[in-house]
Amino acid sequence: MTAPNTPVKTNLPGEPNAFVGRERDVADLGRLLESMRAVTLCGAGGIGKTRLALHVAHTMADARTEGVWFVELADVRPDGTTEPVARRVAAVLDIAEEDGRPLTETLADALHAPATLIVLDNCEHVIEECAKLTGMLLARCPRLRVLATSREPLRMAGENVWRVPPLEPDEAVRLFMERARAARPGFGASDAVHEVTRALDGMPLALELAAARVRVLSAEQIARRLADRFRLLSAGERTAPARQRTLRAAIDWSHGLLDEPERTLLRRLSVFAGWTLEQAEHVCSDDALPADDVLDLLTALVDKSLVVVTGEIAGEVRFRQLDSIREYAAERLADAGEEAGVRGRHRDAVLAAAERHGRIAVAREPAPWADRVALFTWYDVELGNVRSALTWSFDHGDTAEGLRICTALRTFWIVRGRVAEWAGWTDRFLASGRRPAPDVLGPALAGRAQLAAGGRDSAQAARYAEEALAPCRRAGDDFMAATALITAAECLARGGRFTDAAKRLDEADAIAVGPGQEWNRAYASAARGYLLIRNSRLREAREHLDTAVSVMRDIGQLWGASHAMIGLGRLAELRGDTASARGHYAEVLPILAEIGARPEMARALAGLGRVALEQDDLPSARDSLAQSLTLSRSSGIRLDMARALDAFADLVAREGDARGAVLLAGAASALREAAGREPGTGARRERTLEPIRRELGEPLVAQFWGEGRAMPPDDAITYALRTPGTLTVPPPRTPDT
Ligand SMILES: Nc1ncnc2c1ncn2[C@@H]1O[C@H](COP(=O)(O)OP(=O)(O)OP(=O)(O)O)[C@@H](O)[C@H]1O
Ligand SMILES: [Mg+2]
Repeated sequence: MTAPNTPVKTNLPGEPNAFVGRERDVADLGRLLESMRAVTLCGAGGIGKTRLALHVAHTMADARTEGVWFVELADVRPDGTTEPVARRVAAVLDIAEEDGRPLTETLADALHAPATLIVLDNCEHVIEECAKLTGMLLARCPRLRVLATSREPLRMAGENVWRVPPLEPDEAVRLFMERARAARPGFGASDAVHEVTRALDGMPLALELAAARVRVLSAEQIARRLADRFRLLSAGERTAPARQRTLRAAIDWSHGLLDEPERTLLRRLSVFAGWTLEQAEHVCSDDALPADDVLDLLTALVDKSLVVVTGEIAGEVRFRQLDSIREYAAERLADAGEEAGVRGRHRDAVLAAAERHGRIAVAREPAPWADRVALFTWYDVELGNVRSALTWSFDHGDTAEGLRICTALRTFWIVRGRVAEWAGWTDRFLASGRRPAPDVLGPALAGRAQLAAGGRDSAQAARYAEEALAPCRRAGDDFMAATALITAAECLARGGRFTDAAKRLDEADAIAVGPGQEWNRAYASAARGYLLIRNSRLREAREHLDTAVSVMRDIGQLWGASHAMIGLGRLAELRGDTASARGHYAEVLPILAEIGARPEMARALAGLGRVALEQDDLPSARDSLAQSLTLSRSSGIRLDMARALDAFADLVAREGDARGAVLLAGAASALREAAGREPGTGARRERTLEPIRRELGEPLVAQFWGEGRAMPPDDAITYALRTPGTLTVPPPRTPDT
């Protein structure tokens, strides 16, 4: 149930300019979506499907909806399964892949309760995948609605196909005049304008392209030239449906009016999922197109509506092409025989940036913390380019380049708690044909180990880390060898093998010497601190953690400093010094929030929750633990969710809900098992359950325990997060169909 003032969760982009006409369509669609849960907006390219969907979605982002999401599918690559589409949906909704569980299951669980509208934009090239995924999700999530846009219907049960009509003649004139006046203030309507809009058949994209020309052409000239273009084109492409022909003619016409350098830039830009001026200069220029000319040409393409400005991110303006334009431009790129060259340069640019940024992330190159923070924002919007560079590398057998990108960017995904997609890419490259040379293979395996460790899969992490050592050493890569040793040590320590772990850390210390290795040295110190905590050698642990914090601060790596400070917090808790424990946890939170470091934030918040519990401050314990659990759920790390649920068991017991405490403890133990760990009878849990056994008796506790173990994790989480006293039994689940 939504509280009246809960803000709607959404990623809807704002509308770039005035929405014209279609009042009836918008109202009808809103009503249709009240009663029908799957609507597909169909129509030719450029007819306005995306814009209409966006507008309708904005009108629906009101109190009755908990989430409204816009999922672009244009650059999703089909692989015959629903995975790629599911993955994109999950990425947009910030639902993490859980280790060892099909993503569709996780999605269905996450979307089971909240009233959500998902816009799937540009389904045409992944029609079957969209149909399958949507069908499955709608069957399992009673409050989910899907509004799709596609040039063809999805053809699935329950789909309501809505053909997007062209704009009415008067709307077409309005749109043309709006855009024309933006290009040339004071531009007046005339008969020629009516002629142009009639010729363009009410196609918004065609109208925008034509209107963009009023800067240098009169309406009469536009009308005349369009008529010529139509004659030319309809002679050649009689088979294409009429509307498609209109758009094709309009784009072709617009393209025809470009000068040669503008055409060259337009087609080369089609390799980007979105770009900045600097990226365009770098990737699109060559002898024929000097980098210095790109700014003027890009400005010209924006003026002509062939390129759209999408806003400013990380201090730089970004651009993109509308889908129909990108497709057209990509065809031109292939026709010009430039595809391999430009795509190759695009991939190389992504690779070079990734390696530079990767070095900054782990302080192999000095940089202030603010620069590292900016990189996180950058990769949030660069994902599309990274994905297409990886795809290109994979398709061309460029295993080494693909692996280098994965290795370089690992830190960003690990810090964010977003490892599944990148582990998947690494595995695909590792499994593909030729093994790369040791200088690529070693770091890739070490990076893969870190990704596994980030997903809390210690066994897998340990395997990769050990495997990484030989090639790293052969390649003389001390940095990544040390990284692998530290990761191996962390895994060994988690498994209780303290002596072996310490030996690995000694080896790491021996090679992590010299400038540029400060990060490894500090991280090894932190790892040793955590190891000593597990080993109950608290005083020594503190020295190592203090060292880690101060080195990390010196090199401006505040994530690393926070990681070590959480250890200091834990240490203070164990010593019974709740005040300084709270101080450490509270200090790291704003730093971690700045970069969206969810797993570490979840740990710090869990610490704050424990401290509050210790002081019997139940409301603030609930507040911190709830935030911690929500974060763990969003990063999909089951072990972290289990830990949070255990803490909740303790909390609800103290709140007086004995049954709830047993349910949650049971659910936590099942989750632990599902994550490949022993279900555990931790001392902490026994402390919680012991008094309840005395109160309720063993048989009842055993029954609740069984119920808790059978509870789907999402239900357990919902139960834990409910306001105490509002709900005493878990919400009923609609049976899966
Ligand atoms: N009703 C409208 N009011 C204002 N602008 C519109 C309207 N409909 C479409 N447009 C504009 O026309 C252009 C093309 O529309 P849109 O991208 O929605 O087409 P589409 O059908 O999704 O095309 P594609 O099949 O290529 O994805 C966009 O710039 C969009 O903003
Ligand atoms: Mg579209």
